[in-house]
Amino acid sequence: MTNKSKKAKKTASLKGPLRVEAHDSGFSAIARGIDLRSPLDASSAKAIREAWARHGVLVFPEQELNHENLEDFTQGLGEFGLDPFIEAMAEHPHILEVRREADEKATNFGAAWHSDWSFQTCPPSGTILHSKVVPPVGGDTLYADGHRAWDALSPTMQSMLEGLRAIHSAAFAYGPRGVLAKDANVRTMKIVVSEEAEKTQIHPLVRTHPMTGRKTLFVNPVYTVAIEGLHPEENFTLLKFLYDHIDINGKRICSCSGTTVPRCISPRAATTDIFASCTERPSQEIDRLDR
Ligand SMILES: [Fe+2]
Repeated sequence: MTNKSKKAKKTASLKGPLRVEAHDSGFSAIARGIDLRSPLDASSAKAIREAWARHGVLVFPEQELNHENLEDFTQGLGEFGLDPFIEAMAEHPHILEVRREADEKATNFGAAWHSDWSFQTCPPSGTILHSKVVPPVGGDTLYADGHRAWDALSPTMQSMLEGLRAIHSAAFAYGPRGVLAKDANVRTMKIVVSEEAEKTQIHPLVRTHPMTGRKTLFVNPVYTVAIEGLHPEENFTLLKFLYDHIDINGKRICSCSGTTVPRCISPRAATTDIFASCTERPSQEIDRLDR
C-alpha cells in the first residue's frame, strides 16, 4: 500500500470516549468504544497509550482485524520491531503467525515465561497479540505484572537489585543447541535457528517506566542468562528467587481468546530507555486441545 492511499483512510476510530474497565486485581484492563479497523487518530493513540501505561495490559474484545488493520494499529502506537528468529508471514514481514496444528507434536511455542525479544539491543516496549483461530477452550495467554512484583520486594532487596545489570540471550530458544532447534522440522512455525542467537545483550535489571515512573523487574527465565558480576551459584539462586517471586506476586491474569491484546506497556521509544513490565506465557491447555 502506498503512503498516499494510507493517508486517504479515515482516521476517526473512537466511537465515543475510550471506555477502560480495570481488572479487579489492579493489573490489566478491557478497552471498549473503539474500532481498531480504522487507523488511530492522535487523540485515540494518546488515550490508548495512557491506559496501556496505567494498566500494563489492554484487552480489546471482539475486534475482527485483517493483517493490514493489525499493521496499521501497531504503527499507530510505535514503529515495527525486528523479528530475527521466526519466519514472518508472506507479504507481512512484521506479523508472526503463532500457529499450532491440532496433531502437532512439537513443543508448545512460547510456553515458558518470557518478555518478548529482551535479548535485543533495544527490546520492544510492547507487542500486540491478535487471536484469529483459537481452541474451543484454553489457548489463553497469561501475564505477570513486573511492577507489582517490584513493589512487593523489601526495601533492602530493592536497594540490592537496583544498579545490577542482567545478561540476555536468545540462545536457549533459537540457538543451534536451543530447545526450538530440536524439533524445528516437526513444527508448523518456521524457526530461524542461528548462531546469531548466541549473542548477548546487557540491560538494567530494574527499569523505570517513562510515563508512570513506576519501577519494574526486567528479567525472564527464557532470555535472561545471568546477572553481571555474580558467581554461577549466586546467579542461579538470585534468578530463581526473582522468577518465583514474579510468578507468585505478579498477579497473573488470563487474556480471553478471540481478543486483541497489546502487552508490556508504553509506546516504543526510539532510545534504549524502554522496557517491558510484564512477562507472558501461553496456557499449556492448548497442548491437549484440537483447534
Ligand atoms: Fe511472546
